[in-house]
Amino acid sequence: IVCNGYQSSHLYQSFLIANEHNFSWSDCFHCCSDNSARPLSLSGHVGFDSLPDQLVNKSTCQGFCFNILCIGETGIGKSTLMDTLFNTNFENCESSHFEPQVKLRAQTYDLQESNVRLRLTVVNTVGFGDQMNKHDSFQPVVDYIDRQYETYLQEELKIKRSLHNYHDSRLHACLYFISPSGHSLKSLDLVTMKKLDSKVNIIPVIAKADTISKSELHKFKIKIMSELVSNGVQIYQFPLDDETVAKVNTTMNGHLPFAVVGSTEEVLVGNKMVKARQYPWGVVQVENESHCDFVKLREMLICVNMEDLREQTHTRHYELYRRCKLEEMGFRDTDPESKPVSLQETYEAKRTEFLQELQRREEEMRQLFVQRVKEKESELKDAERELQGRFEQLKRLHAEERNVLEDKRRVLEEDQSSFNKRRAAAQLLQAQSLNVNGKKDKDRKK
Ligand code: GTP
Ligand code: MG
Repeated sequence: IVCNGYQSSHLYQSFLIANEHNFSWSDCFHCCSDNSARPLSLSGHVGFDSLPDQLVNKSTCQGFCFNILCIGETGIGKSTLMDTLFNTNFENCESSHFEPQVKLRAQTYDLQESNVRLRLTVVNTVGFGDQMNKHDSFQPVVDYIDRQYETYLQEELKIKRSLHNYHDSRLHACLYFISPSGHSLKSLDLVTMKKLDSKVNIIPVIAKADTISKSELHKFKIKIMSELVSNGVQIYQFPLDDETVAKVNTTMNGHLPFAVVGSTEEVLVGNKMVKARQYPWGVVQVENESHCDFVKLREMLICVNMEDLREQTHTRHYELYRRCKLEEMGFRDTDPESKPVSLQETYEAKRTEFLQELQRREEEMRQLFVQRVKEKESELKDAERELQGRFEQLKRLHAEERNVLEDKRRVLEEDQSSFNKRRAAAQLLQAQSLNVNGKKDKDRKK
């Protein structure tokens, strides 16, 4: 009912309402496209024709948020262009050319125009294209974009969600600053845009377009577009589904990439102060369409397609991230036989799978443990056997040594007894000879 009879451009806002009232978006869409619904004509005023106004009022009250990513080499004119686009002075500080790796710097500002509040986040690449090895320069940018999607997904998956006052940091547009070389795109540009084209709406711009001549610029634009096409890089195309802007968007798609000039300086031209860059040979007016495409970019980015950029981010890029992430986690909408599977069923299947895996691991660990114990047991047995062998050998050696010692003792004892016998004999002889000598002396005296 919420959506019925509305144009597709209102569907996203209807989605916000559906979300708030706990209808699912599919219910809401189903309701819109349900051909079986019976059309009835009203016989008087009911009041639901004020729904678009209610939506506008509600959105105006809530305020909007828009996040821009500026990718470009250091000093290419990113900050100046942002200042010029939003007619203000953001906090800018010059980046050094000696950053060891690419970093992303985000700054958020609250802006107001009439009664519309916009929370704008500008994310700048710091040190992009400055490293000797530019091989992985795109990686910090890819990681940053994915991180913002992940944060949103985590909020969405919470039991107690607060998406209505959630600060959405997903990047809605990426201004890719191409150096005005007049030659061709650098491989760094092609690689980076290729890596990002499924994650963010890329709008390529030729920076400092006042440094390139008109004829060179024309050829340069054609060259860039053909290189993007031949390398399969999908840049953001201004949408043609809303017939009120289809014509202007078709024309503008033909002007891509926009050649821009940025300046916050005001110069007197005729009797009017205009934003321009003044040179010794003349003045380049930023808002003069015959000088550059700045006005086209501002129209397309801010006035006409800001809501589409937000919508594309949610319905295309975030949806892709979410789908891949959930599939990675094992969630599926259908089973292998293409039958629909509910979240509950997937959860239960996952749980069973997990428990089986746990059991398998447990069994594996148990077998490993048993095998280890067996190995240890046989190791211990071997060691015991070896010890026993050594013990036996030592015992044998000990017995042999004891025998040798016994023999030696016996020999020694025999030697000792023969020595004692000889000594006794010698003593006897000595005593006898003393007696004989004593008798002879007595006889002589007599
Ligand atoms: P970092 O943040 O340090 O990487 O630089 P940036 O890309 O933000 O460049 P920034 O806007 O600071 O501009 C760098 C220099 O380029 C300044 O001197 C600007 O005046 C000049 N500049 C900016 N836009 C243009 C332009 O459109 N044309 C010309 N010729 N110079 C420009
Ligand atoms: Mg800057």
